[in-house]
Amino acid sequence: MEKETFIFEKGLLEKADRTRKEFCKDEVHLRGIIEFSNHCVRNCVYCGLRRDNKNIARYRMTEGEIIALALEIINKGIKTIVLQSGDDFYYTQKSLCNIISKIKAKTDIAITLSIGERPLDDYQAFKDSGADRYLLKHETINPALYRIMHPGQDLKQRIKILEYLKKIGFQIGSGNIVGLPHQTVKDLACDALFLKDLDVDMAGIGPFIPQKDTPLRDQPAGDLDLCLKVLAMTRILTKNAHLPATTALASLDKEAGQLRALKSGANVIMPDFTPENYRKDYKIYDNKVEVRLEKAKQIISKAKRTISQGRGDSLKYEEDS
Ligand code: 5AD
Repeated sequence: MEKETFIFEKGLLEKADRTRKEFCKDEVHLRGIIEFSNHCVRNCVYCGLRRDNKNIARYRMTEGEIIALALEIINKGIKTIVLQSGDDFYYTQKSLCNIISKIKAKTDIAITLSIGERPLDDYQAFKDSGADRYLLKHETINPALYRIMHPGQDLKQRIKILEYLKKIGFQIGSGNIVGLPHQTVKDLACDALFLKDLDVDMAGIGPFIPQKDTPLRDQPAGDLDLCLKVLAMTRILTKNAHLPATTALASLDKEAGQLRALKSGANVIMPDFTPENYRKDYKIYDNKVEVRLEKAKQIISKAKRTISQGRGDSLKYEEDS
């Protein structure tokens, strides 16, 4: 991060909290996340799952394991399952469709996919199998910085995919990292404006945290207060988008990170249900804290908010009603 100060409006976090209350009420949505594979063909310089990292034990959950775990989560009353992995083509279109349709066959819960960039016809097939939402963070809207952070990838392609996902009827999520090396405050303002212009249904905003086996191992972590301000700004601009209090924020400040996020515009928590023997190897960044269901519930209660009993679908379509 360059040494610049953002001229933030006084009371920004409070204003974001009021905006959240007006558009999203006091409900917090829980999304149960399964990190089902840490294999990745990409080489993002900040991420511990990058393909050049030989210092990580790779795992893949089987179709049967993923489906059984999803059903367990649903039995606990969670109504959104997030299936997340590195960009891992071991899972074919057919196998992913099979997983999606088998989970959807049992109940009317929502499935969110967070499995990166794939051929466009895969997305249509996932949609046809019953997937509801797709998360693809743009990570940074600065094209030059994007290129440095994601060797071999192109921001234009990322945006094209997001637009395609929206066109074919997915509820879409994007989002960005706060505190990447060389990132400026102007970049962060442009990130928030991009999310507003794309009219995202959801957006994840989290601080950069160094991972010891990546080229960015010696870079400082993103600043918690700055990250909260970016979250708040995004809330004010996007109004009713679902914004999680991210695990990365909890990893910066275990006690207060997510609680402060809930009071600065966030209205979602994504507790992690990945089995412990796999979770320990999902090393996106160092010291990733465990946010399990109980912890998520405690934070919501500390924030004096309620747990949503619904699926927590996009609020965009309720605007005109
Ligand atoms: N610090 C913060 N966030 C990271 N991610 C990956 N590596 C890091 C890191 N070192 C985030 C990216 C990705 C999500 C799954 O994790 O935003 O989209």
